[in-house]
Amino acid sequence: MAGRAAALSVASGMRLGLGTGSTVAHFLEHLGARMARGELSGVVGVPTSVRTEKAARRLGIALAALEEVGTLDLTVDGADEVEPGLDLVKGLGGALLREKMVAQSSARMLVIVDDSKLVGRLGEIAPVPVEVVPFGHASHMGWLKDLGAEPRVRDGSNGRPYRTDNGNLIVDCRFPGGIEDPAGLERRLARRAGVVESGLFLEMATEAVVAGAGGVRRMKRGVQ
Ligand code: A5P
Repeated sequence: MAGRAAALSVASGMRLGLGTGSTVAHFLEHLGARMARGELSGVVGVPTSVRTEKAARRLGIALAALEEVGTLDLTVDGADEVEPGLDLVKGLGGALLREKMVAQSSARMLVIVDDSKLVGRLGEIAPVPVEVVPFGHASHMGWLKDLGAEPRVRDGSNGRPYRTDNGNLIVDCRFPGGIEDPAGLERRLARRAGVVESGLFLEMATEAVVAGAGGVRRMKRGVQ
């Protein structure tokens, strides 16, 4: 439902950021269907992962690189947690770095979720993924614990650590009871050499479509 509602928010000629995840997969299907029916023209998308790129190609959605399009009109992406002010935790799908780059290049960011992702405080249900370069990655563990996290290197297939599309590792950081000061945490993570990016998406989402048993409802940043 959220994916369909987001696809209806797309207009002809839009430059779109295409997020990653199972909810975005529905959005892409509905967007591709609208394009196939001739309802939209001149739409170009910037994918945030190899997975999304493949799905978009299969659906006939025109693609471009981020640097080719410059500013995007709208990014549509999922999330792992959404708090009342529309700050987010993202990245359980591993695409957080490209997702954040694309979101930062967008005039609007529309988040599509079901209501199980709504939280009072970030960190309540999902770990915060932290993308780190492989070199010396274990050296971050004690430092992350000092920040109040319970860090764990994400497993991939074949008993090896998970690798992002950028060749990096992910350390999933649980914060029991949630994160008291997300902005402060983000600042500290940003200052740490070897940390590439975190899944804290603060002051980025401008709107959300939340699906639940009663249908979809829209939320806007600054309107609670
Ligand atoms: C991908 O890296 C993530 O940020 C996803 O957007 C997020 O995990 C939501 O995914 P689902 O829609 O599959 O829950």
